[in-house]
Amino acid sequence: MNHPEENVDETTSKEEEDNLAYFLDFNPPKEDFLNDVLEGLSKDQKSLPPKYFYDAKGSALFDQICETDEYYVTRTELSLLEDVGDDVGRLSGAECNIIEYGSGSSNKIRLLLDQLSEPSEYAAIDISKEHLLRSANSLAKDYPAISVGAICADFLQPIELPEYVGQGDGAFLGFFPGSTIGNFSSAEALGFLTSAHSLLSEQGSLLIGVDLKKDTAVLESAYNDADGVTAQFNLNILTRINRELGAEIDESGFEHVARYNKEHGRIEMHLRSKQDQQISIASHLFEVAEGETIHTENSKKYAVEEFVDLAEKAGFESNRVWTDSDELFSLHYLKAA
Ligand code: AVI
Repeated sequence: MNHPEENVDETTSKEEEDNLAYFLDFNPPKEDFLNDVLEGLSKDQKSLPPKYFYDAKGSALFDQICETDEYYVTRTELSLLEDVGDDVGRLSGAECNIIEYGSGSSNKIRLLLDQLSEPSEYAAIDISKEHLLRSANSLAKDYPAISVGAICADFLQPIELPEYVGQGDGAFLGFFPGSTIGNFSSAEALGFLTSAHSLLSEQGSLLIGVDLKKDTAVLESAYNDADGVTAQFNLNILTRINRELGAEIDESGFEHVARYNKEHGRIEMHLRSKQDQQISIASHLFEVAEGETIHTENSKKYAVEEFVDLAEKAGFESNRVWTDSDELFSLHYLKAA
């Protein structure tokens, strides 16, 4: 369970909070990059947690991925949001209180806010305080009629919000775009939906973007773009390990691999070693054989019914599902019922 901090962290400047109705710091545990890397590389199937992709360079590369011809995910979701925003507004009702999971999708939330019926309040929940405050502040400046809050917490853990969150007369509307749920393990996905269900309370609902199962060739090309941006994104995790953990991994000794695993219904990204090599990190030595892979990410793809079943297990009721005409991507409107 996340526990809110009574006192606001001293590293947060007054100016950063000035535009916000509230800033709640649940003080999520700090990431332990070294430990997570050592643990992942010690497994039989070596792995690295995908959350470490997103340093400054990795985040910029991810933005670039979203612009590639092959990566249909972002532009399909954006155009779906544009098309269904009015319907979402009617379903969620006037003066709703929006809770966004993550604060990285500024353009998506703006699209939604512009189409809802006089939203009252908006709060983002994010584990990265710096990122959270920056994006919440810029939203507060651009939407002065909406009360904007920021909640620093790990949304994979249950969160109990104080009563002053959600002051608008309408219901809660959770928003989790981007198909980020696809990067979670099955247990994390169910855990996330279960805690979102209890947070959004009875009248609330959740609008969530979910990438769909489709032709393997389309999926594999989305994660193997011709310009090699996804490859750079994948390899950048090694650059980060070198820089932040003082390792000396030769990035050119690895290659990007992304393939669709039909059995698990997911794209798997790996870094494949081009030769036998040793990796030394903080006086720990790892042998990597030629052809051996380090598993860096899963991106699960759902059939519509498969996702509805998962949401129902978490207590939600499926109210509406929209897909684009090519059935690439889905937006689910789930009632906390
Ligand atoms: C953030 N997430 C939903 C992306 C995905 O499609 O799984 C991350 C990504 N990895 C490679 N390309 C994009």
